[in-house]
Amino acid sequence: MADNDAPIRATDNDAAIARLSAVQKGYLVDPYIATLVPRAHLQQPRPPLINIGTYLRSRGIDDLLDAWFRLAGGRKVQIVSLGAGSDTRFWRLASGTHAEQLHKYIELDFAENTSRKAMSIRKSKVLSAALGSPDAVSVGGGGTTLRSPVYNLLPVDLRTPPVVSLEPLLASGDEPLLSPSLPTLLLFECVLAYMAPSASNALVQWFVDYFGSPGSSGLLGAVVYEMFKLGDAFGRVMLNNLKSRGVSLPGAEAYPDIASLSRRFLDLGFTAAQALTLREIRSRYVGPQELRRLSRLEMLDEVEELELVLDHYCHFVGRSDVWGLVTKDQVGSGDDDGDGFGP
Ligand SMILES: C[S@@+](CC[C@H](N)C(=O)[O-])C[C@H]1O[C@@H](n2cnc3c(N)ncnc32)[C@H](O)[C@@H]1O
Repeated sequence: MADNDAPIRATDNDAAIARLSAVQKGYLVDPYIATLVPRAHLQQPRPPLINIGTYLRSRGIDDLLDAWFRLAGGRKVQIVSLGAGSDTRFWRLASGTHAEQLHKYIELDFAENTSRKAMSIRKSKVLSAALGSPDAVSVGGGGTTLRSPVYNLLPVDLRTPPVVSLEPLLASGDEPLLSPSLPTLLLFECVLAYMAPSASNALVQWFVDYFGSPGSSGLLGAVVYEMFKLGDAFGRVMLNNLKSRGVSLPGAEAYPDIASLSRRFLDLGFTAAQALTLREIRSRYVGPQELRRLSRLEMLDEVEELELVLDHYCHFVGRSDVWGLVTKDQVGSGDDDGDGFGP
């Protein structure tokens, strides 16, 4: 039987190789990614345009997460990464300044991808060490599930109705894995586009309801990185390229412009949502010193082409805080790491 989801799962490989390339070329620092890319030493670097896009994608999310930790004050927080693939963010956070604040970091992806990642983690001393004492780490579900006190890697098809998929995994029992009483951030890094809006809306709605119920923290955030505006010439080329690899983007076609992306989250019960293209992030939030550093890494002739590409990707944040303890301006207000980057 044809496995129609194999090309979607394989997009993780593209993301991981792009990240590895950006690290090797000096755009990003990530000591963990090579462990998660098969035959990392044989991978060819990606073109400068892709490296810059990967840099903006990654730094933007890092910054938004940093703002989220600050927004939560001293409280412990939970992060749920949906379609996490080979992302290394947990290990970067676990070795960073917010490590103590991290209560749970939960990664969800198709079983084939979680079992590959679980195996890589078990084979790597560095990745395993961050999970805590080996006695507290368990692998189950035929190798598809890895549990530890903070980091949890779980298999799920995110298109399945959440009451039958997410609820048993995250919300069952007296002490559910995902506590409804802690500030929680959902991370959708390049995943919503692969799902029909009806399925991804049900997913987001499930979290909104879980954190909106009496006794919950009420503080739910979302950071999204997404492709959009695929109706123009550039977008059509991108869609055709993906189609030739068996990948369709039902979730991107439904959101033609940047306003429609944040409106979607407001319609689902979020109280605030704001979106910026990677092009806007590069021009407004990357400081001159950092731009100079980037320009020295590789020659980039095609600035117009770069801007065209960056115009089709965006980051956005949304927040649903029924407590009303925080003000709208707190997310994305900061640039206090001094390098001039703070979307
Ligand atoms: C482009 S990759 C992004 C990976 C990672 N978030 C990153 O940005 O590096 C998309 C990921 O979403 C996962 N994904 C897409 N649709 C999914 C679904 N219905 N259920 C579970 N995972 C899904 C894929 O398997 C893949 O790992």
